[in-house]
Amino acid sequence: MTTSGLLLLFANAKLKQQSHHSSVRVKWLSHYSSAQQILLVGEGDFSFSLALANAFGSADNLVATSLDSYGLPFPSSSPVLFLLVSHVHPNVLVVSRKMRFLSLCIIDLMDDLLQKYSKAKSNLKSLREMGATTLHGVDATTMKLHSELTMRRFDRIVFNFPHAGFRGNEGLMPVIDLHRRLVMGFFRNACRMLRPDGEVHVSHKMGGPYAQWNLEELASEWSLVLVDCADFRKDEFPGYCNKRGEGPRCDRTFPLRASCTYKFRLGDLDETKASSSSSSSSSSSSSSSSSA
Ligand SMILES: C[S@@+](CC[C@H](N)C(=O)[O-])C[C@H]1O[C@@H](n2cnc3c(N)ncnc32)[C@H](O)[C@@H]1O
Repeated sequence: MTTSGLLLLFANAKLKQQSHHSSVRVKWLSHYSSAQQILLVGEGDFSFSLALANAFGSADNLVATSLDSYGLPFPSSSPVLFLLVSHVHPNVLVVSRKMRFLSLCIIDLMDDLLQKYSKAKSNLKSLREMGATTLHGVDATTMKLHSELTMRRFDRIVFNFPHAGFRGNEGLMPVIDLHRRLVMGFFRNACRMLRPDGEVHVSHKMGGPYAQWNLEELASEWSLVLVDCADFRKDEFPGYCNKRGEGPRCDRTFPLRASCTYKFRLGDLDETKASSSSSSSSSSSSSSSSSA
């Protein structure tokens, strides 16, 4: 083949490559894109993850996790059967006080997601079919050590409406402290799992007792600096249904009212404070000079 023939071949191959790249378009939904590696933590019925997957047309870039367990490898009827037998058959009852307690615990753990959320099963099925990695029993306060996560780094780590459970009046300091400990543990782990330029996102209600969680202060303990606070609009995420997540009404939604997505990046807190104070002083001096 002549040199010009080779050059033509090379140019054609290059053109094909370029058209392939432009056909794999990056898709966006709100702050999230199909080009980002996204870790979702503390999901309820996985409808938020699915909203992203549907918008991207794929879930290859999503790792969606819940604290709740799902699909332990034995049939859900076996502990129930054991309980029934142990109540009916006296011999079983004699040997089984501890076992009955154990089986009650197993029932509690087993298929937690399916018991809690009516749509969890179908949402998870769709997510998996679209290529998502789904993990269960993932504690946000220790997730860095999780075998599937320990080596991975993410562009976005998202915890929507973290909540440690209903333990009394939300305005009481011990209850607020419980929630703060959860978010603090999440930040401690998330800050070590970010890619360069990665962000940690927490969506949270504003005002009232929720303001007292003081997310910014908690994040700063782990060198996470608030870079933005965007209004959270549920209707931006079609199909997303925020869940209470605990208690007999766990599958119910709750009013979001004014909520916000707090976005944090790793950074030097002093530097950020200095630059924001210098920009505010320069803007105040420029406004005072313009008004003079
Ligand atoms: C108010 S619900 C919100 C659920 C979901 N993110 C949503 O937006 O619908 C709070 C969630 O926090 C989760 N959670 C509580 N403690 C957690 C922990 N240590 N690690 C991970 N998730 C946790 C609960 O399982 C529950 O799903």
